[in-house]
Amino acid sequence: MNEGAESVLGSASTWGAKVDQLFVTMLGITGFVALTVAALIVFFAIRYRPGSNADRSHPPTQVRWVEITWTAAPLVIFLAVFFWSSSLFRQIHAAPVNAMRIHVLARQWMWKLEHDGGRREIDELHVPLGQPVELIMTSQDVIHSFFIPAFRVKQDVLPGRYTSVWFTATRTGRFDLFCAEYCGTDHANMQGDIVVMRPEAFSRWLASGSDQPGLATRGFELYRRAGCSGCHEPTSSVPAPDLTGLFGTPVHLADGSTVIADENYIRDSILLPRKQVVAGFEPVMPSFQGQLDEEDLISLIAYIKSRGTPP
Ligand code: CUA
Repeated sequence: MNEGAESVLGSASTWGAKVDQLFVTMLGITGFVALTVAALIVFFAIRYRPGSNADRSHPPTQVRWVEITWTAAPLVIFLAVFFWSSSLFRQIHAAPVNAMRIHVLARQWMWKLEHDGGRREIDELHVPLGQPVELIMTSQDVIHSFFIPAFRVKQDVLPGRYTSVWFTATRTGRFDLFCAEYCGTDHANMQGDIVVMRPEAFSRWLASGSDQPGLATRGFELYRRAGCSGCHEPTSSVPAPDLTGLFGTPVHLADGSTVIADENYIRDSILLPRKQVVAGFEPVMPSFQGQLDEEDLISLIAYIKSRGTPP
């Protein structure tokens, strides 16, 4: 990764140069084709206008090699752009394991942001310079889209599931955050700021914040209060899958398939427990739909993560 590669278009994240190169290349190709076609239209319109004395005695016959070329050349170009952009897309959605995680909860019409340590923000997100940051996002109501133009980051935020995106900021300062999906009356006002700070300043800011308990701590309280611990502890009388070391590992299901225990899997297991039953267990878990809100779910997931990940 070319850390700090300054892009001509003034980006502020490590995606900047990569996304801009792709964008400028596509703009160049499409611009070249559009201008060529426009120029030919004008040229032919003038040359073959009524009354001109252009030579019309040899109308063109079929020219096979021209047809093959103008079919094959775009195909090659389109495929090249496809592989280039899909590889970039994959990178933007595969956060490194050491990334700092921030939870994003969208609703009409604000952004609620929550750091693992428990510090919460609204319409403003502080992040450290030069460190990978992963956003785990969901919506409380309709589809929104988290868009930081200076970072070249845009990701839809959907109700009922988690999406994620990650970035590494390369410049300190304040950058625009927009909602980029029409989400109702005040969509245009659903804006915020991303504040990139030097790592020391960021640590001070994070520590100075709140006396709120961290996400995992709140999750643990819920784990006991909502009754999860009644079944999911090794000592409990009802057998339920052990949650220690669960996050990020493959889970074998009763139907013979295997899933990775990520945020979406845990969320579904809490709200739709019969959707993916773990092999060897009875589908006896009740759904917690309607009893837990989005922030509760985020806390519970943080708690389950804190119980260990695979080495
Ligand atoms: Cu949220 Cu548009």
